[in-house]
Amino acid sequence: MIPRIYIPGDSGALALGAEKVAKAVRAELAERGIEAKIVRNGSRGAYFLEPMVEVATATGRVAYGPVKPSDVKSLFDCGFLTGGHHKRWLGAPDKIPFLARQTRLTFARCGVTDPLSLDHYKAHGGLNGLQNAVAMTPSDIVKQVTESGLRGRGGAGFPTGIKWKTVLDTSADRKYIVCNADEGDSGTFADRMIMEGDPFVLIEGMAIAGIATGATKGFIYIRSEYPHAVAVMQKAVEIARRAGVLGVNVLGSPNSFDMEVRVGAGAYVCGEETALLDSLEGKRGQVRAKPPLPAHKGLFGKPTVINNVISLASVPVIMDKGAAFYKDFGMGRSRGTIPIQIAGNVKYPGLYEAAFGMTLGEIVDDIGGGAATGRPVKAVQVGGPLGAYFPRALFDTPFDYEAFAAKDGLIGHAGIVVFDDSADMLKQARFAMEFCAIESCGKCTPCRIGSTRGVEVLDRLAENIEPEKQIALVTDLCNTMKFGSLCALGGFTPYPVMSALNHFPDDFRPTPVAEAAE
Ligand SMILES: Cc1cc2nc3c(=O)[nH]c(=O)nc-3n(C[C@H](O)[C@H](O)[C@H](O)COP(=O)(O)O)c2cc1C
Ligand code: SF4
Repeated sequence: MIPRIYIPGDSGALALGAEKVAKAVRAELAERGIEAKIVRNGSRGAYFLEPMVEVATATGRVAYGPVKPSDVKSLFDCGFLTGGHHKRWLGAPDKIPFLARQTRLTFARCGVTDPLSLDHYKAHGGLNGLQNAVAMTPSDIVKQVTESGLRGRGGAGFPTGIKWKTVLDTSADRKYIVCNADEGDSGTFADRMIMEGDPFVLIEGMAIAGIATGATKGFIYIRSEYPHAVAVMQKAVEIARRAGVLGVNVLGSPNSFDMEVRVGAGAYVCGEETALLDSLEGKRGQVRAKPPLPAHKGLFGKPTVINNVISLASVPVIMDKGAAFYKDFGMGRSRGTIPIQIAGNVKYPGLYEAAFGMTLGEIVDDIGGGAATGRPVKAVQVGGPLGAYFPRALFDTPFDYEAFAAKDGLIGHAGIVVFDDSADMLKQARFAMEFCAIESCGKCTPCRIGSTRGVEVLDRLAENIEPEKQIALVTDLCNTMKFGSLCALGGFTPYPVMSALNHFPDDFRPTPVAEAAE
């Protein structure tokens, strides 16, 4: 059997040099006259080990990483094609502690299989969920998803089954499934990773959603900053169509479902579901007032399921193994697993899929290894640019929608960005207001005007001009934005601002220049 070498084609790994490594491996194979198959797999998500190269040996896969092009010659000298020892040797990938401790349900195949091999996908449990779904009634599928406890992974945590039921119960000549792959939150990359590393799981999830609700057409709306994900998804859709996974008779059943990939031009607000629908319709992405809900009147005025990539990609395992299996993981009303994306100033950045319930401290200190700089961790922003900053004092908060809400925070898309003690939280609060001002769609006053006034107030605070007055002003402004904004961009910007102010008050009262000089 010819040797098989896995070199990730994932864009995170590419950014770390995977393409140069692949080139060096190809050159070395040619020079040594060795025939081998190079598979461009996805990433397993341990980015501190990327580019992580794996070889299939008689006793299983052996990983090496992070591999530099300059390592390649010596890897061959050490016999890496049969798992030989080398300074980059990591052993069996699933024994690497960062990976071994995870519960991989949604990301089970990511980094393992060839992303564009449908045979590989099937050999690793792919399409089992869809096979089951085509044999069920739509309402039974919806029931199973509802019972699994799956909640939207895009940010709001809305129960997926209930959303699907609303679309199922709304009669119309045409319905749509829209996958939200705009992934604009800071420090998040789960959607990108799964689209690049296991695209068929998303296609399978969308096809199940279509059959469950009576929708025959799907759109995946991907941000333009994800060219690799766009290319992989487009190819995967074609492959799935040719294989009869998509089309007029899904897996030979009477159900019809097909889909297209659409690329967004790049605006944070286009991740908001109604702005996304406007953008998909070819209009400027601006938030729509609700009601009507997209489930009643969505894309082109038709009933539409709009779900995040991870919500949809979690459905196949639920339909394969059952609602009870999935529901068994997690805590409280947060069921199943969540792919936590650990980023920022952290020693071990990467994607960590685990059942809900780990504490923030475990994630940051044990899994993430603390700050990459070796300095103490000061704050962690959870849930993207609209998420709260959590101080160490709140590190006992379990990763759970309700527990975070109780501490005035949110889980969002489960991205966490770590800051060490050199972070200036007043600057971070200003950044939140500035971000909102830049990204605001302009439809409502509290967000459009409030965010700009917020920047000005925080600038005056930084200059120490009547600090108590500015703090009162920004607090009042945040209340107006929170309760008066039409969508969560303006409505949630107060979370990072007020959490920074409440948890790090010293940063908001700069020492007067004269005092500091004494
Ligand atoms: C400003 C803003 C940006 C958002 N960006 C995204 C995004 O990039 N991806 C996403 O899935 N949801 C995003 N959301 C949430 C969506 O509006 C919506 O709740 C989600 O797509 C529903 O899917 P889910 O129930 O599967 O989470 C955003 C919301 C707001 C207010
Ligand atoms: S809160 Fe901001 S982004 Fe949302 S509708 Fe209002 S102006 Fe637009």
